[in-house]
Amino acid sequence: MSLLEINGLEAGYDTGQVLFGVDMAIDRDEVVSLLGRNGAGKTTTMRSIVGTDVPTIRGGSITFDGHDLLEKRSYEIPKLGLSLVPEARRCFNELTVEENIRLAANHATDPLNRESVFEQFPELDDMRNRLARNMSGGEKQMLAIARSLVANPQMILLDEPCEGLAPYIVRRIESIITEISEERDVTFLLVEQNVAVAMAVADRHYILDEGHIVDEVSTERLKTDDELRQEYLGV
Ligand SMILES: Nc1ncnc2c1ncn2[C@@H]1O[C@H](COP(=O)(O)OP(=O)(O)OP(=O)(O)O)[C@@H](O)[C@H]1O
Ligand SMILES: [Mg+2]
Repeated sequence: MSLLEINGLEAGYDTGQVLFGVDMAIDRDEVVSLLGRNGAGKTTTMRSIVGTDVPTIRGGSITFDGHDLLEKRSYEIPKLGLSLVPEARRCFNELTVEENIRLAANHATDPLNRESVFEQFPELDDMRNRLARNMSGGEKQMLAIARSLVANPQMILLDEPCEGLAPYIVRRIESIITEISEERDVTFLLVEQNVAVAMAVADRHYILDEGHIVDEVSTERLKTDDELRQEYLGV
């Protein structure tokens, strides 16, 4: 059985259905991306998995590490070892870097050693006492990933981690994802508009279009199939 299995997921809001039978399966230690145009339903898929800002319609099944996620409350899900870093890079703006990480560790059942997280993010180590609100977008994204990592998850979901960031920070976030995946055996599902980022970090890619998974491709195929990229991703 895969670590995360989604079968026939239907989801939407009061305004209408968004996902029409999404199937995905992600094995332990994989890095997988979910690609698609604006409004395809990528964030709705992520929200359905972790049960936050929950879409009103939900059908189908989602299991993580053998647990039925649709039966769980949203606060129970991080305890299973599944963590979402949402689009907005949520951190506590009025707390320092160190306080943000300590708070995340205190909420976790079996947190990592905080110093080992600072070793992974030397740039955060250099600004431990800075308030999150005084950080750049890229620094905040690193803090959001570090907060997620300190909880010692089996799997991290990232929703557009590189949106709006300068190319050198994008490269840094790519290498952080690869390091965490390789050194700590964390599984990743990454939502991206930026196909280059997805190709740099993920082994395999699901393509979502108007709430349907229309293809599942290797990085090699994504690189070479111009028609596929043009049709579903517009790039
Ligand atoms: N809270 C909400 N209430 C009602 N409709 C919503 C809500 N959130 C999203 N939608 C609608 O659901 C559809 C899918 O949105 P979603 O955010 O999942 O897309 P996305 O693929 O993440 O897009 P983007 O790349 O722009 O982030 C869109 O038509 C959007 O307007
Ligand atoms: Mg989105």
